[in-house]
Amino acid sequence: MTRSVGPPLPVGHTVAMKVVVIHQSRTGNTRRAAEFIGGAAEVAGATVTVRPATNLDYKELAEADLVFVGTWVDGLILLGHRPGDLGKVKQIPKLWDKRVAVFMTHAVNPGQAANKLAAVLEADGADVVAARSLNRRHLAVEAPAFATEVLASVGALA
Ligand SMILES: Cc1cc2nc3c(=O)[nH]c(=O)nc-3n(C[C@H](O)[C@H](O)[C@H](O)COP(=O)(O)O)c2cc1C
Repeated sequence: MTRSVGPPLPVGHTVAMKVVVIHQSRTGNTRRAAEFIGGAAEVAGATVTVRPATNLDYKELAEADLVFVGTWVDGLILLGHRPGDLGKVKQIPKLWDKRVAVFMTHAVNPGQAANKLAAVLEADGADVVAARSLNRRHLAVEAPAFATEVLASVGALA
């Protein structure tokens, strides 16, 4: 019996990584960003799961080679930018020595919120390899591009 195994991976894409994409989202933008990131990582050959911060699988997280952690930008547009729902993000188990890529979504001005989240995760021992806020109106372009950049930076793309 023949069985379809899907299209071959594009030449040069040789990822065999386990990737977990965690999102904290109120109105769906960061969840959508997470899905785009997960989709791009999957196309690159990674084994991917996308999960809300409130529904994690600890074993899966322990086995991950790369973890994306995302939330939304909370601020006063011009100032006071910080990671939204930081309390929930902090409930993620400490990602000690894990390679972590931070992403956020924002409307107009993210300030330094992504770097702030990176600092929080680094203080808990994560090896943060990238931090970026994505414009909520351009997620379909910016999120996969970010994922591809991160995968390349960790040597996951040939
Ligand atoms: C209380 C509050 C504060 C916000 N502050 C900012 C801000 O300072 N800068 C900005 O660009 N967007 C700001 N936003 C917009 C959100 O960051 C943006 O809509 C984000 O994509 C929401 O993500 P979510 O759909 O995953 O909840 C704010 C939204 C809320 C609800």
